[in-house]
Amino acid sequence: MRPLLEKLHRDHINLSRLLDLLSKELDALYAGHESDFDLKVEMLDYIEHYAEQVHHPTEDQINRVAFRKKSMKDHHALYERICKEHGDLIGLAHTFRETLEGAMQGEVLLREEVETRGREFVALQRLHLNLEEHEVFPLIDEALSDKDWAKLEQEIAHIDDPVFHRQDYNRFRSLIDYLKAHEDE
Ligand SMILES: [Fe+2]
Repeated sequence: MRPLLEKLHRDHINLSRLLDLLSKELDALYAGHESDFDLKVEMLDYIEHYAEQVHHPTEDQINRVAFRKKSMKDHHALYERICKEHGDLIGLAHTFRETLEGAMQGEVLLREEVETRGREFVALQRLHLNLEEHEVFPLIDEALSDKDWAKLEQEIAHIDDPVFHRQDYNRFRSLIDYLKAHEDE
């Protein structure tokens, strides 16, 4: 696999792991157990920050080049769909984080409200990941030449992941500790 696609694929594996953990947290919330809101806010902060500033812009740059190719002319609807989903995902993550922050600041919010916003986000994020992994990436791999990849490698900024790679402990302390404690799950 091309290094840029490989990196995006690794991001997807990390993100899937977070979505699994987030789902478990939502199950615990539903069951009425104590809920760690700091952890959930850090998860959302990471997902929003990394998706918005690194992961989606990288995909968008690659997609723009790939979907312009003649061989991709029948896939215009797919291109529009993934562009729209990138926007929708940021919107859902943002709404979910605001709901969580409201709950932390003592706003009277039903647990169901937090849970619903969380489930919505997790569901669309999973669908989107699967679509990219199973349909978009194979098409791109086929459409782009060695020369295209070399150009993209030069144009795309390489920024480290602040949780799974560089580990920004000041900003993501709860999340990094939680991931370490749940390594075997
Ligand atoms: Fe992606």
